[in-house]
Amino acid sequence: MNGNGLIRMPELFFTGQNLEGNEVVPSVRTLGDIIGIFEDRETASGMDMAQTAYSVSSAFPVPEGTPGGLFFGITRIMPGKVGNEYFMTKGHFHRNEDTAEFYWGVEGEGVLILMDRNRNVWAERMFPGSLHYIPGKVAHRVANIGVTPLVFDACWPSDAGHNYEEIAAGGFAMRLKEVNGLPTLV
Ligand code: F6R
Ligand code: MN
Repeated sequence: MNGNGLIRMPELFFTGQNLEGNEVVPSVRTLGDIIGIFEDRETASGMDMAQTAYSVSSAFPVPEGTPGGLFFGITRIMPGKVGNEYFMTKGHFHRNEDTAEFYWGVEGEGVLILMDRNRNVWAERMFPGSLHYIPGKVAHRVANIGVTPLVFDACWPSDAGHNYEEIAAGGFAMRLKEVNGLPTLV
């Protein structure tokens, strides 16, 4: 990939909705992987658990846990709902609680749901060009509220780590549902 001399080709590329290049790590979450986060289990039981709910392509230029480094990822959430709840990411606090993160919208329409340590919940609209600073000690999750894939980028510290257990056990204090055709925190 590298050209002659000092000016080189970059090692990573955006191709449409994906990240490609050296050592990009892909991961896929099927509906079955995340079904526990949805409230309407009865509707869920009739759905195809093998379908992709979202996928992430990440670049980890330094080992996980390295202080001062950065990671990058592109998340693509499929359109869909379980009952009146939109397809969404599992959501997490960072294990290293002081670490922040940037998210930014690339394609589609979404909502970033945030929750602080006092379980206060708020949310921000995501769309191409929206930029979101997620402070430390704030859990974050994204829902696709549109009819096309929602694509967003993320950049986070390499020593952030992920605490999924707490959200898996206690959820967010509010759910984002479609109420009268509109995304609503309830
Ligand atoms: C990294 C980060 C994102 C998410 C991705 C999938 O700290 O916040 O790259 O990891 O959007 O969401 P989760 O990890 O909640 O399944
Ligand atoms: Mn994060």
